[in-house]
Amino acid sequence: MSKPLRFGIIGLGNIGQVHIDCFSECKNVDLVAGCDENTQRLDRLPKSAARFSDYDQMINSGKIDAVLIAVPHYQHVPMSIAAIERGIHVLCEKPIAVSVSEARRLNAVAKKHPKVKFGIMYQQRTDATYAKLRELIHSGELGEISRITWIVTDWFRTNAYYGSGGWRATWKGEGGGVLINQCPHNLDLLQWITGLMPSRITAVGFIGKTHPIEVEDEISAILEYPNGAIGHFMTTTGEAPGTNRLEIAGDRGKFVLEGGKLHFTRTTQSISELNRTTNQSFPTIECWEIDIPVIGKANDRAALLQNFINHVNDDTPLIAPGIEGVRGLEIGNAMVMSALKRQPVNLPINGEEFDEFLEEMGRTYGGRKTIETREAAVNMAASAR
Ligand SMILES: NC(=O)c1ccc[n+]([C@@H]2O[C@H](COP(=O)([O-])OP(=O)(O)OC[C@H]3O[C@@H](n4cnc5c(N)ncnc54)[C@H](O)[C@@H]3O)[C@@H](O)[C@H]2O)c1
Repeated sequence: MSKPLRFGIIGLGNIGQVHIDCFSECKNVDLVAGCDENTQRLDRLPKSAARFSDYDQMINSGKIDAVLIAVPHYQHVPMSIAAIERGIHVLCEKPIAVSVSEARRLNAVAKKHPKVKFGIMYQQRTDATYAKLRELIHSGELGEISRITWIVTDWFRTNAYYGSGGWRATWKGEGGGVLINQCPHNLDLLQWITGLMPSRITAVGFIGKTHPIEVEDEISAILEYPNGAIGHFMTTTGEAPGTNRLEIAGDRGKFVLEGGKLHFTRTTQSISELNRTTNQSFPTIECWEIDIPVIGKANDRAALLQNFINHVNDDTPLIAPGIEGVRGLEIGNAMVMSALKRQPVNLPINGEEFDEFLEEMGRTYGGRKTIETREAAVNMAASAR
């Protein structure tokens, strides 16, 4: 058996601590080093691990084969590139980047180093319910997809959360709000489950609609797909109790995933064919109501980490390749730009245009914390045109 993979971790904050525990659940790996610029947090590491306050020193130390990057988003790209160029395998936290241009730059570097493994911490891809839904859709059970509707309003956050300061909910610190912080998993799953990328997005959204923050806290988007399918994505951090309901309709019925339960209303015939061939105006649609049994865990970080370790050790296929991080990110970039510029955005999006938009948002709204009324939120979004 090969020697355990020597892993280091950069960033020992909220999620870094959780990852430390995940390492103890995994096989064929040793957490041998950790890095945080806040040196008090180095105490969170196991006693045997080497400690660094400078990530470059850890990457160049010769002590690690792979690194898990768990620092705020803007540093994901420079740290991933630094590690990949030194031949260190990278498992990076979501989002892979803040802007699509940065994610594309990272992907170009990763492609130049095919022997260096590159993954993203999209642990929700290990969720057995999402994986089952994807499997059924990809096997053709649903036929051609006609509608995808995801209400994700269960991301409620309070003013106290936003008031805890730091890099969160600022254009400078994280480059956006609910789409870049809370929704990256949903935006990835949207494209991963369906296998579809939208070609155009039209969104409505608000900066600080329900919280005194400078970034967006509510977005509703309409997604147009090349095959004519339509999507709806609704999210906010201001609603409670929220809803998390995903509906995917197609030629052979409809999947509904809500409350951890996956239900399939399966038509006994193709709806498009029935439409073409029947002479009845109001036919009864015969359906089977199926509760899809799902075996397995939800949202398993250790499983994603183990998959990455196995991928490095023996080329086990990656559940979440790093280069796929750009896909959900691009959908989120398009939504926020469409909402705040109040105009539709075509995909693939123009990376430079998004970067200019991001700069403009920082210049215009950076540091503003006093948006308190709905009316002010509407005016701010309108003035961003
Ligand atoms: N996959 C998930 O479900 C999930 C969950 C939570 C957070 N995240 C992601 O993880 C990242 C970190 O989030 P968090 O909540 O842990 O943030 P955090 O602020 O709690 O922790 C970040 C840590 O990084 C350290 N750090 C910052 N810059 C550094 C540098 N240059 N060198 C060394 N250390 C540095 C900070 O001192 C801090 O300890 C974010 O990108 C977030 O989106 C992912």
